[in-house]
Amino acid sequence: MPQERILVFDTTLRDGEQSPGASLTVSEKLTIAEQLARLKVDAIEAGFPVSSQAQFDGVRLIAGQVRGPAIVALARCIDGDIDAAWAALKGAERPRIHVFVATSRIHMEKKFRKSEEEILAMAVAGVRRARSLCQEVEFSPEDSSRTGVDFLLRIVEAAIDAGATSINIPDTVGFAMPEQFGALIRTVREKVPNMGRAVLSVHCHNDLGMAVANTLAAIRNGAGQVEVTVNGVGERAGNASLEEVVMALKTRADFYGKSSGVETREIMRTSRLVSSLMGIPVQPNKAIVGANAFAHESGIHQDAVIKDAATYEIMTPQEVGLSSNAIVLGRHSGRHGLKNRLAELGYALQPAELDVIYQRFLEIADRKKEVFDEDLLALMSAETGETAEIWKLDYFHILSGNKTVPTATVVLRRGEESLQEAAVGDGPVDAAYNALNRIVDLAVTLQDYNLRGVTGGKEAVGEVVVRVRHQGTTWLGRGASTDVIEASIRAYLNALNRILAAGSSPARPGDDQGDSL
Ligand code: KIV
Ligand code: ZN
Repeated sequence: MPQERILVFDTTLRDGEQSPGASLTVSEKLTIAEQLARLKVDAIEAGFPVSSQAQFDGVRLIAGQVRGPAIVALARCIDGDIDAAWAALKGAERPRIHVFVATSRIHMEKKFRKSEEEILAMAVAGVRRARSLCQEVEFSPEDSSRTGVDFLLRIVEAAIDAGATSINIPDTVGFAMPEQFGALIRTVREKVPNMGRAVLSVHCHNDLGMAVANTLAAIRNGAGQVEVTVNGVGERAGNASLEEVVMALKTRADFYGKSSGVETREIMRTSRLVSSLMGIPVQPNKAIVGANAFAHESGIHQDAVIKDAATYEIMTPQEVGLSSNAIVLGRHSGRHGLKNRLAELGYALQPAELDVIYQRFLEIADRKKEVFDEDLLALMSAETGETAEIWKLDYFHILSGNKTVPTATVVLRRGEESLQEAAVGDGPVDAAYNALNRIVDLAVTLQDYNLRGVTGGKEAVGEVVVRVRHQGTTWLGRGASTDVIEASIRAYLNALNRILAAGSSPARPGDDQGDSL
């Protein structure tokens, strides 16, 4: 029988983190996982432990600290992967190992050069090993929607016999169409004889913009779990968006007759947190969480909404956690008020972190009368975490104009040490970055620079997100200030500090050289 309650499996921290340029530090992952627990998802896929030490550490930290949802770690059907997943997951209240192997002809032939029988044997061995360690085991035949149906049914049945407690059918390359994917899920549910012993899950990618539609079609056809990400982030065009699937189920309960356990009033907060920590803005017209999702521009609409919001709103902004009362703090707000508001936004601060944030908050509140949640989020994502500043910005001075060579003087402090450098550049930001490069002395290339006004008005806080390349790895840096040059400097310095915090050493001959903006 299909389930009435659809389980929500969030993979923002695993598939979502595979979005180009979206790398999170271990403590940022924990912050997001704690918020996902408040959102009341049923499972959090926290990472792929064998892939790097940072992935392993992230899963271990989340497994040890986050309570409520099952904590899931990904593994190929390889002993070392499964053992690493288990080692990272052991501390979880409800651990789950998620093993996968590709089953489409193109993947089996080109990636593995293996026959169906060999792949089936790998799947069975992987599931058995995982199940010998862990009570909950999920199995995914990767690229299911391009897999021969007979083989798919056979491998699913074998995986359940080997001990899989969930079977996940991924549309790995976003190839399926809703009617087709729905029919596939119905076939799996009806034709796999032991399917009643496992939860049937789906995982849809968005290459043709069908991820949510495919996920919902799967629910109509008996899927009991959906794998989704906040804001739809994920590999390439992303994954099915959590908020869209959840709100479709809620708003169209008349049609689906199913519900999720998600606390929808946490959706907005979760979306902003993920966007801000991953440095991936949400498009304004994005369903549910976009800035315009509840904005009415035309006079006719505005008039009707004032008379009865239901004329043009099929959900209320309150249901997704958009409060009309968005003004939070100002220059007279105390440390306690700031701490409470940040806790409501999902941040639990250590006293030393609160000191740093409070100082930065006062600087912003001095220049700006009203400090909004968005300002605080920008500040938090720029100022906390392992980035605990190694180099701190002390002072900068910029000389710029249309007939002047842009020049920057920057003073940084590290403990008792204070260093000053000056440099010229193509523009004021470039000049400042050149000065920073001279002090910090890391071989980095600037890959991406993004500036946005966090809130409206001319006193708005500007948030800068940069991505820099260092020894083959991309690092994110964020900075926020009412002064865009200061925000730019802080963002670049934040990226340099992250590199240093991860143990990198100064420039070597032959490394990438600094780029200009
Ligand atoms: O898209 C995919 O197939 C995956 C699997 C690992 C589930 O992410
Ligand atoms: Zn995926």
